[in-house]
This record gives sequence, C-alpha cells and structure tokens, in this order.
Amino acid sequence: MTHRPLLQVLSGQTLSPPPVWLMRQAGRYLPEYRAVRAEQPDFIAFCLNPQAAAEVTLQPIRRYGFDASIVFADILLIPHAMGQKVWFEKGEGPRLSPMSLEQLAALKPEGAAKRLSAVCETLTRVRAGLPETCTLIGFAGAPWTVATYMIEGGGSKDRWKARTAAWSEPGMMDRLLANLADSTADYLIEQAKSGADVLKLFESWAEGLPAPLFDRVVIAPTRRIVQRVRAAGITAPIIGFPKGAGPHYPRYAAETGIDAIATDHGLDTGWAVNNLPASMPVQGQLDPAVLRAGGAALQSEVRRLLDAWAGRPYVFNLGHGINPDVPPDHVSELLAHIRG
Ligand code: CP3
Repeated sequence: MTHRPLLQVLSGQTLSPPPVWLMRQAGRYLPEYRAVRAEQPDFIAFCLNPQAAAEVTLQPIRRYGFDASIVFADILLIPHAMGQKVWFEKGEGPRLSPMSLEQLAALKPEGAAKRLSAVCETLTRVRAGLPETCTLIGFAGAPWTVATYMIEGGGSKDRWKARTAAWSEPGMMDRLLANLADSTADYLIEQAKSGADVLKLFESWAEGLPAPLFDRVVIAPTRRIVQRVRAAGITAPIIGFPKGAGPHYPRYAAETGIDAIATDHGLDTGWAVNNLPASMPVQGQLDPAVLRAGGAALQSEVRRLLDAWAGRPYVFNLGHGINPDVPPDHVSELLAHIRG
C-alpha cells in the first residue's frame, strides 16, 4: 500500500485533509526561483539543465512541504524537440519560428522524446531529493494546445489561425495532432520510466470549441496518447486538464481514458459535482486570484471547495497556475487552511 497521499487519492480513496500541490509551484513568485532564473537567461536551456531544473523543482517542496512535486519543464519543449525554434521574449512570453501548417504537419515524432532526455535526468535527480511521501508528477502539453502555439507562433488571444486551420485543412491538422500525440506519448513513457509516479496532460486551450471540433482536436488526440502510454505497459495514473472545456468536461472524462480530471476555476462547482463521474478523482478549482487576495476570501473559498468535494477523491489545487505577484506567505496561509 502506498503512503503517498496523492497516489492514494488518484487510486480512488478519499482523504481528509486532501493532498495539495499547486500548478506553477516552482516559479517567479519565489525569490529563490528568481535567483536561479537570473543565472539562466535562456529559458529552454534552463529547462534542459537537469541540475538547475531539479533545484527549482525542489524549492517549493522544501519551503512548503507539498504532497506532490511537478518536474520543472515546459509544454513547448515538444515543438523544440520536433524541430521548431522556440524562445522566450522577456515580458512577452513564448515565441516560435513561423512555419506553415504544411511544414508543421511534416515534422516527425520519431526521436523527439530522446532529445528531451535531460528532463528524464531531472526527474531522476528530483526523486532522489524528495521525501518518501511526496508524489512526483511528469507532464506534457496536450496536442491541440501545443499545436495552437506552433501555428500562431506564440500565445494568441483567441487561437484564430489554429481554429480556422482545424476547419479548413482537417487532413493536415489531424496529421499534426497525431504526430504530436505520438511524440508526447513517447516523452511521457520515458518520464514514467525515469521516476514520474503520475503523468499530467495540460490542455490549456480547451476553451471555446464547438462539440465536433472538441471531439476531433481534444478528445481524439488525448485518447491516442493514453492508449499509446498504456500499450507501453505504463500504469502511472494520468491526470487530464482540459482548461475551460465547460460542458465538454464530462465527455472528456468519459472518452479519453484519463484516470483523473483537473478542473479550472470557471467551472461551476455544484455542476461539476453532479456531472463528473462520482468515482473519478478530481483536482483543482481554487481561483488563482483568491490566492493573490489572501485573507478572509481565501479562507472561505478553501472551506467552500473542501465542503463541496467532501466524500469524493479530491486533490486540492488551483484552477490555473500561480501568478508571479502572489506573496509567498499566502501559500503558507492556504496550506494552514487546508491542513488545519
Ligand atoms: O511548477 C510547475 O507547474 C512546473 C513547471 C511548468 C512550467 N510551465 C514552467 C514555466 C509547467 C507545468 C508549465 C506548463 C505550461 N507552459 C503551460 C500549461 C499550463 C498553463 O499555464 O496553461 C503553458 C501554456 C506553457 C507555455 C508557457 N511557458 C507560457 C505561456 C509561459 C509564460 C510566459 C511568461 O513570461 O509569463 C511559459 C514560461 C514558464 N514556464 C515559466 C515557468 C516557471 C515562467 C518563465 C520565467 O521564469 O520567466
């Protein structure tokens, strides 16, 4: 029997208090992260430096004692490994070299996971530095979200080019998504073999898709990843996070093959309690802005979520990543509210 609380919940047990970790728990809100970052001007090189990446992965575990550690890396390592240039413009976020959909669809999945072996080395180092009770999470971006960055050349307000391409060039789009699914599955398989206890798929741009498109660009490629990971004999639980999927959440939960579902703060809690499968572990939902606010609002929101999910396998987390302006003390407050 495992004594890692997160793994217990992901296997269907209910724990009170629930295990807790936070998306982007390693990041710019921590002064010790900013100190390492200052020595690592190239963000992709930083992600591929096992010594530096392991150090920042462990920082929030040392400071707060979270129940899980998520490896420090980025969802844009997959396009980098498949041959599209990726860089980070200070204050502006990610940039990817302009490529046509035809060029992107011709990028091959083979060999990409091998080019990211540094992340596996980070996982091995982190595992060696973690308390026994702490679960180690590996992750990747889901194909649609990664494809939107590849097609748009960076972040974008409404993913207009990617959504248009999904309708006008379905053959090439589906080829790109299938190639991304295969390289991502291979990468996750290697992460599990290197010590990741749990795997998570970030579908950060599941929002704003009509049902037929959601099924084609979100559900089908995600199912392809889960099947390929399972065919390789990997049994680590997989958490899916279709951020902003709204009414599509229950279909995503039922049809992709994932083991647990991460929810965003825009999803109505009562509706989620009633419409997500009762036996499926659920993670998330705290508004990152309430963590920034702190005080009475934070206390009452923690209470509301603990009450709503009592009796269900639940993992406490935010509905999206921690913002850089969150005071580190607010995270201690949050943990005190949850753990009592
Ligand atoms: O602690 C953790 O959660 C693990 C590390 C992690 C990072 N990125 C580190 C990071 C994880 C899980 C991600 C996932 C990721 N990256 C997503 C999916 C989750 C989400 O936020 O929706 C996305 C969309 C990306 C792409 C990306 N990487 C963006 C949009 C940015 C922000 C750019 C900016 O300047 O704010 C990044 C950079 C990034 N990834 C940072 C961190 C800590 C900040 C970079 C820095 O230190 O300057």
